[in-house]
Amino acid sequence: MVVIVNAIIHSFSQSIAIHWHFLYSAFSTGYDNPPLCDRLKNHTTPSCHVSIMKSLYGRDLITTQDWSVEELEKALDLSFEMKANRYDHPLNNSLDRRTFFMFFFNPSVRTRQSFEAAATELGGHAQFLEPKSMRLKTAKSAGETIEDAAQVMSRYAVGLGIRILETALEYYGQGDEILRQYAENATIPIVSMAHDKFHPCQGLADVMGYRMHAGKNLKGKKIVQVWGKGALVRSWCSVQESILINSRLGMDVTLAHPPGYDLDPEVIKWCEQNAETADGSFEVVHDLEEGYKDADIVYSRNWMTAGFYDDMIKHGVDEAKKKEIGIAAKYDDWIANKEWMSHTNDAFFTHCGPVDRNAEVTDEVCDGPKSIVYDVAENRLHVQKAIMALTMGKQ
Ligand code: CP
Repeated sequence: MVVIVNAIIHSFSQSIAIHWHFLYSAFSTGYDNPPLCDRLKNHTTPSCHVSIMKSLYGRDLITTQDWSVEELEKALDLSFEMKANRYDHPLNNSLDRRTFFMFFFNPSVRTRQSFEAAATELGGHAQFLEPKSMRLKTAKSAGETIEDAAQVMSRYAVGLGIRILETALEYYGQGDEILRQYAENATIPIVSMAHDKFHPCQGLADVMGYRMHAGKNLKGKKIVQVWGKGALVRSWCSVQESILINSRLGMDVTLAHPPGYDLDPEVIKWCEQNAETADGSFEVVHDLEEGYKDADIVYSRNWMTAGFYDDMIKHGVDEAKKKEIGIAAKYDDWIANKEWMSHTNDAFFTHCGPVDRNAEVTDEVCDGPKSIVYDVAENRLHVQKAIMALTMGKQ
């Protein structure tokens, strides 16, 4: 009798164990997970098409211009999902036990914090790297080549973010070349965390902010990307990414700046082509009234003149910055204030941060009811979670 009871108990407990293993495999987000398609197929948002998501696996993100509009839309859809289900999205363990390298040649507040938080929320870890703690080859010193560094880094991490801006470079475009060189040699995705030409994560976070406040369909909405005065001598990357992605999505984009602040002619050409393809518009003006007139979104931001690099090489960074500050000081009217905002269509105000208050924008506008600057900053987290899940998340 005892033998029979023991056999029944043993058989029952084995059955429980088998069922538990099955249930764990089906529902846990550990390595025994069902594949990506199965995890997403019952998710509530139908637009989250698995095929596009799979096609983004392994992809670099150096500028949004390198991705199709469909791919950008999928990234944005997933960003909204990640925001709505911050701690319980089915892809929240995409980086389970995996590492994302963040390689910063220049300082950052939002980008470092949001990538680090994003990796944590996806179950992984973001490791901070800076050139001074590595032994990389440069024009001035011997060291490890990009080819070797990229391949070694690929053995440790699932993705590599790079920030490299003007003061770490010798000419405009060198940062973009370096990112693309890493991309050629690495076997993991390379993500721009802002370089001399582009800032794709910022561009996507901006669009997410506009959709939160101005509606999903941005076609026909006017955004003025307006130069702002200030002493920070800022990069072109956020501004160029902004005009690219917004013209891509069919917005009416007006780039307003004083004479002499022209951006990269190739980027301007792409914006014109984007606008034509998307049935939107793109124009460059040097007049504030024309720029602000009837705008739905105002994005004020300082940027340097094209002469900065030459001056930096000839006279050093400090002298080059001094010269830029002197030029910018001539344009006292170029500040987003209540008066200029009154020319708009009750526009939202945005800025990628860090904000140069009372230079690029007044406190009154930046802290006013139409300001979306903190929402956009928060969106960096959601967008980067989506990008990491799509391009390097476990499959
Ligand atoms: N917008 C942005 O990239 O901010 P940080 O320079 O603080 O990272």
